Amino acid sequence: MSENTLEQQDEQRHRIESTISHLFAPEDAGLHGALQAAKDAGLPEIQINPIQGKLLQVFATACQAHKILEIGSLAGYSGIWLARALPADGHLITLEINPQHAEVVRSSFANAGVGDKTEVRVGNALELLPTLTAEAPFDLIFIDADKASYPQYLEWAIKLSRTGSIIIADNCVRNGIAFQPTADMDADTAGLVKYNQLTREDPRLTTIVLANDNDYTDGLNVAVVKAN
Ligand code: DHB
Ligand code: MG
Repeated sequence: MSENTLEQQDEQRHRIESTISHLFAPEDAGLHGALQAAKDAGLPEIQINPIQGKLLQVFATACQAHKILEIGSLAGYSGIWLARALPADGHLITLEINPQHAEVVRSSFANAGVGDKTEVRVGNALELLPTLTAEAPFDLIFIDADKASYPQYLEWAIKLSRTGSIIIADNCVRNGIAFQPTADMDADTAGLVKYNQLTREDPRLTTIVLANDNDYTDGLNVAVVKAN
């Protein structure tokens, strides 16, 4: 390995990742359709990758998820992966601030065959989260909305969880800046830095960060609730 150039190592990593993706996380028409619909509607192409989608399913299955909460629907892509990990009587609630995006997501959920077990609620997540207490606990919570509010989303996620629930947050690496507090960091970076710190230090959680996006520069923070 040491004789290989950095470029060759990078190529090798991408080849292996591509193989894993095709073998373990193939995308079907429902997932492709969601990406196309999002693109057509002008949504940013910033969804998780298929390996991360499959990882969400692995975690949902591990905690025997019947109820899943997603904060930030975006294209509905992660929501489709998550909803498909649910049993027939399972339910996914996804919170979306943009009403037009929410319509795209509803339609993509229906096309992907998960319309009957999903619900898109429109509004500011910090206003919607307090309304969910009667529907808690959620077995898995996936956070992928505005980064500045991540610390508050974590607080709500713990409140709405049970022992054994899994709280996953996207974009918790950001090229390493999500670990490094600096005097001049913006609100988004500050939110991510705080989120990583809180999940690392909270005695109720066992947490790891996986740098598992396409180029290893971003990834998921995964926290299991030990007690709440
Ligand atoms: C951005 C947001 C995301 O959730 C993501 O995965 C990538 C980028 C963004 O706001 O730029
Ligand atoms: Mg994201």
